[in-house]
Amino acid sequence: MYILIKNIKKHLGKSVIIRGWVDNVRSSGLIMFIQLRDGTGFIQGIIEKKQVSSSQWEQAQKINRESSLEIKGIIKKHPQKKDIFEVQINDLTIYQIADEYPIGKKEHGPDFLLDYRHLWLRDKKQWAIQRIRNEIIKSTYEFLWQNNFIKIDAPILTPTSCEDTTTLFEVKYFHLGKAYLSQSGQLYLEAGIASHNRVFDFGPTFRAEKSKTRKHLTEFWMMDAEMAFVEHKENMEIQEQLISYIVGHILKNCEQELIILERDINKLKNIKPPFKRITYKKAIEKIQKMGSKIKLGDDFGAEDETLITQDSKVPVFIEKWPKNTKAFYMKTDPKNPRLVLGSDLIAPDGYGEIIGASQREDDYETLKERMIKEKIPIKEFQWYLDLRKYGSVPHSGFGYGLERLTGWICGRKHIRETIPFPRLINRLTP
Ligand code: 4AD
Ligand code: MG
Repeated sequence: MYILIKNIKKHLGKSVIIRGWVDNVRSSGLIMFIQLRDGTGFIQGIIEKKQVSSSQWEQAQKINRESSLEIKGIIKKHPQKKDIFEVQINDLTIYQIADEYPIGKKEHGPDFLLDYRHLWLRDKKQWAIQRIRNEIIKSTYEFLWQNNFIKIDAPILTPTSCEDTTTLFEVKYFHLGKAYLSQSGQLYLEAGIASHNRVFDFGPTFRAEKSKTRKHLTEFWMMDAEMAFVEHKENMEIQEQLISYIVGHILKNCEQELIILERDINKLKNIKPPFKRITYKKAIEKIQKMGSKIKLGDDFGAEDETLITQDSKVPVFIEKWPKNTKAFYMKTDPKNPRLVLGSDLIAPDGYGEIIGASQREDDYETLKERMIKEKIPIKEFQWYLDLRKYGSVPHSGFGYGLERLTGWICGRKHIRETIPFPRLINRLTP
């Protein structure tokens, strides 16, 4: 019977067929040990010369790293290691003997590995990261659907910008001139709330970021959520519930992957509501005292974010930002007209901002005035202003960066490892 390695326990003592790739192979003349993976797990296969035909033994000698095989054999318990199983191979078919594999078991530089990303994805750690990313997506959908969000998607080709106009990717768009790749689906989701109350999207987003940091991709995946009748405070509560739900799901379902990544699981176990909240102003004062040269009005750099979360086991919301530091759509703080009701959620241990959020300006005139002041072309955004004319309600939303979140949960310092094929300023291949 053909089985998946993840189900191996159920087949103890039975004869099974496994198909996969060779991670490693050792031979000692009379016996061969083959580390096989099939995408669902890893297992050691043992071939003894006396157990197979002489032509099969000869064939087996050619097996090298990344060769693809079908093996048949009996599942046995590992003689010493608990909960580890092996296959005593008695038959084998080779799909292909691989060429010499360019990625060695020794250390390689990041550029080399990224050049071979199409192969590097098979690496055990890279395997674990993509599986965790997959479970983050799954648990996000679960949480949102359980909480009455409807998934409606936003366009990728857009006529305007959602965030900073300096980070737009332009594309030619027939006789209409230029289009831009979406930086976030938020503005379109705001149109969705009057139809569905709570909505979300999940898709690729693009930023022509000139920054070559550990945290920036030019193409990344964002989940935007938008909620009618939710104000700033409740917006943060929903975010901390979502993030805690995701982390809880990963702890429950990805133990093996977290072990492969050597992630400190105790740190993830601390991720429960409530998260910390600090105002922008207090955050500046706090890190100034810690030696940062930051001034009021500045955005936080990577080191500043590390300082802000240094004494916290949970992520930290930095809330109530000066108007000039944030996008035009954020609602003015009724208690202080110079501030907006926006928040950034900063992951602990230097992983940086994982969510950008705010209550949105819902008053037509106030929003229009702000747009004029910021020289935002009213004509292109008239549809967005219209939403404030027909049943405007207080509403809020947020967007997480999937790769930032994956990087933090997996404990990977560089975001480039968290997306299957990273796009960076100087990298568009493979
Ligand atoms: O903070 P940002 O720019 O917020 C928005 O785009 C809002 N419109 C979202 C909303 O309210 N619906 O981006 C959201 C998140 C960031 O917190 C970060 O996690 C991620 O997207 N992000 C990036 N991830 C990787 N590479 C980049 N260049 C990123 N820029 C933002
Ligand atoms: Mg942001």
